Amino acid sequence: MDTALRQRNVQATLLSEDHNSEQTFLYHPSLLASLNQQLRTSLTSVSSESEKNWPERISNVLLNSVSHVVSNSSDINLFQQCFQELAGFYCSLDIPAPLRQRQFINNNGLVMSPDYAIRTVLDSARVGTFWQALSSILPQYAERECHLVYPACGPFAPLLLPVLHYLREQQLLPENLQVTLIDIHPAAIQSLTALVESLQLQEMVKVLHQDACDYQAENGSVDILLVEAMQHGLSREGHLNICQHFAPLLAEDALLLPEKISIRAVLTQADDEFPAKPRAAGERNTQRVDIGPVLELSRESLRQLDLVRLNDGSELIRCQQVQVPADLNTTIEHILLLTTEMQVYQDLSVTEYASGITHPLPDLSVCIGFEPHNPQPGDLLIKPGDSILFYYRKQGLPGFLPVYVEPA
Ligand SMILES: C[S@@+](CC[C@H](N)C(=O)[O-])C[C@H]1O[C@@H](n2cnc3c(N)ncnc32)[C@H](O)[C@@H]1O
Repeated sequence: MDTALRQRNVQATLLSEDHNSEQTFLYHPSLLASLNQQLRTSLTSVSSESEKNWPERISNVLLNSVSHVVSNSSDINLFQQCFQELAGFYCSLDIPAPLRQRQFINNNGLVMSPDYAIRTVLDSARVGTFWQALSSILPQYAERECHLVYPACGPFAPLLLPVLHYLREQQLLPENLQVTLIDIHPAAIQSLTALVESLQLQEMVKVLHQDACDYQAENGSVDILLVEAMQHGLSREGHLNICQHFAPLLAEDALLLPEKISIRAVLTQADDEFPAKPRAAGERNTQRVDIGPVLELSRESLRQLDLVRLNDGSELIRCQQVQVPADLNTTIEHILLLTTEMQVYQDLSVTEYASGITHPLPDLSVCIGFEPHNPQPGDLLIKPGDSILFYYRKQGLPGFLPVYVEPA
């Protein structure tokens, strides 16, 4: 072939990121060839290095992180490192982007995209507290059979897999422990399966791809139910629906982790609760008016949930009733907050504001002692002395529905 022809500049047209405009570039073929060669070399070294090194890298970062947490010497960087290594591993799986990014609402709530769900590892207070709890709980099952189920566990099952790996290294992993991980998202399952294999836990850990609320097993066959599929104020995701589905499957002496989630109704002024300048650690908003519990979710309360079926087939759970104080100062506008505290196990808790899931959730549709400046359909106008009954909406995006109660 004519050398001059081979060496002529080549024109390339690229579509811009917003797909609305085109840009034209001229480049010399030898430049492209050398760039390609360089990229091929780097790609080969990345993929061969990652194939060879991922199990070791993941193992190292998890062992290091869990051992620091267990010895109370963790810091936030540990979780950053964990995230970086696990995210690198996740990317090395080459799961197609449209699948990784797919997010949807199913019968039981929001199913988050795995690209987003992998970030839960960064929630250090929450993850660390579960690691501490599980590394103390699991060795107690050394002498007996134990079936642990972790539904809606996400792409890394981050509350459990690192602890299993750590306990095995410490020779503290019970021999008769059987684990079932469940997730509905195919990309989460692809990641989970690869991670379980990489940690060589496949003999002990089964991975199921299904809706957790369709999981079938003998009644009483689950010894530990580990579930954390919620956003703040027990909203949006299927946590409560999943717990409710598993209630009859729990053994008589089963552990539900977290042991207790407490949601309370609190009145406050928006500026007091969310000041422009963030509060110092541990500083509390002293202007709150706590008007009482809305729901306490524990093993015991799960057995007594008050289910209400509506004619259209939808289901609600009747929760607690609270009363707004008759002497509430109405010269300031109060908003309703749903606060969350999570007792994971015994004295191990995730306190308010410590994690994304324990941030108070404002319900701005409830106007207490004032008329909204910009009325919206669904606003609930409440006066001092009024009572509010909370229902929990199970379908769509789950969450609490406050309703005005007529005086008797
Ligand atoms: C926030 S993520 C991971 C939560 C996990 N506990 C953690 O700490 O990272 C929630 C996961 O639950 C899965 N999920 C949501 N609803 C589900 C359901 N009904 N059945 C099974 N998996 C579900 C999603 O696919 C997602 O991977």
